[in-house]
Amino acid sequence: MFGFGFKKTTAAEAYQKGDFALARKLALKTLRKNPQDINSLLIVGNTFYIEGDYARANEYYQKILGQDSKNFEALVNSGEAFLRQKKYAAAKDVSLALKDSPEGIFLKAKIDFEEGRFQEAQDGFLYALKQQPNNFWAWNLLSQTAQKNGDFDLALEGAWQAVCQSGGEDSQHLNMAYTLYEIATEIGKEKVLPYVKKWHKKYAENSIVKQSWNAFFPSENFAKSDINYVQNVFDNFADSFDEVLSSLNYQVPQIIAREIKKYGSEMLPKNPHILDAGCGTGLCAKYLDSALKKYKLYGVDISAQMLAKARQRGKYKELKKEDIESYLAKEKNKFDLIIAADVFTYFGTLEKVFSTCANSLSDEGMMIFSITKNEDDTEAWKQHLSGRFVHGKKYVQKALKQGGFQRAIFTSCVLRKEGEKEVSGWIISTFKTKKKFRK
Ligand SMILES: C[S@@+](CC[C@H](N)C(=O)[O-])C[C@H]1O[C@@H](n2cnc3c(N)ncnc32)[C@H](O)[C@@H]1O
Repeated sequence: MFGFGFKKTTAAEAYQKGDFALARKLALKTLRKNPQDINSLLIVGNTFYIEGDYARANEYYQKILGQDSKNFEALVNSGEAFLRQKKYAAAKDVSLALKDSPEGIFLKAKIDFEEGRFQEAQDGFLYALKQQPNNFWAWNLLSQTAQKNGDFDLALEGAWQAVCQSGGEDSQHLNMAYTLYEIATEIGKEKVLPYVKKWHKKYAENSIVKQSWNAFFPSENFAKSDINYVQNVFDNFADSFDEVLSSLNYQVPQIIAREIKKYGSEMLPKNPHILDAGCGTGLCAKYLDSALKKYKLYGVDISAQMLAKARQRGKYKELKKEDIESYLAKEKNKFDLIIAADVFTYFGTLEKVFSTCANSLSDEGMMIFSITKNEDDTEAWKQHLSGRFVHGKKYVQKALKQGGFQRAIFTSCVLRKEGEKEVSGWIISTFKTKKKFRK
């Protein structure tokens, strides 16, 4: 027999390859034999950190610091973990232990930022960048801080440097897009256009850049958000989505539930099949029980991270990761009700998606969805500087009719806040049949 020299993978190798489950398993195995092993403690801590379980990550970092209070990696990572847990006093102690190292200065500036000391934070980020000019997160945070301080030139330059220093990472493109939109809204489009142009010149193929470019230089050909853009935005947003939307007083799921209650008993069968189109983290599912006794709920969304949150709610019979239109094209006459909360704002033209929705509804089916108002032109849709789309009432009415809906009831309402402003829109209940009552 030949002997094959199989080499066992180590925890460090698995970690390097990004196989964090295996890395943790192997590191824990080592820790059972040698509970003090520093490398294994660090690997286990880091795998919890990557999962977003900062409390457990810190348990492992503290075990290292209990043996060696100056262990640099454990200090840096525990400081970040405390920051994520909003334990600012503990994070400050870590920044003191890191003394004047670039990591210590960077951590201190981040704590200042989180606690609202924006001038100190700005000075800290600038100082940290002198030592680490390639640190793109320091550029990103410098930009956010400068914006808070009203220094828009520095905010724009910081966001641009973050994009360049990161080599065009999507997280930094997203930050650039938000920065351009917010500053344009605050002080006017002209100021940001030079940055929009140089950004587009260098990264024209990126879906986030394309979406933003079209918001600043609208084109009728750009009639639906690029699916990669949507996926990217919401994969990045999933962790904080529910918290952020609640802080914006997002009302759409609640209002949709009220509309279902209003029309459900007349228009829906006893155990309706409902599709939550663009279900996101499943906020609509949270309110359905208040409207209906029994239902079978399906969900479709393009963002895997949003779907993972929706799955945790345990309310959906099936969840699919797909573009709404391609999913619905395969599901003819399947649903009694389609709901779409804050989803058609990612579509410019609506005729095609409405007709796909109508085709996948039963003959007496209904759809309830929100639309953000186009305040300038009731006959048209347009892309807003935020990258999202807004629609005029007459345009929506025409598109519904063309799509195969016979009756539509528009309820004007505030959808949520954006900054201090209210975003107004409609919740629209629309029906395939003109008949008012089910037999
Ligand atoms: C603003 S969130 C709203 C989520 C949820 N409906 C709610 O009210 O909380 C919009 C969601 O629509 C999804 N979405 C947008 N366009 C889509 C498309 N063409 N296909 C699938 N999902 C889409 C996004 O991924 C995102 O999760």
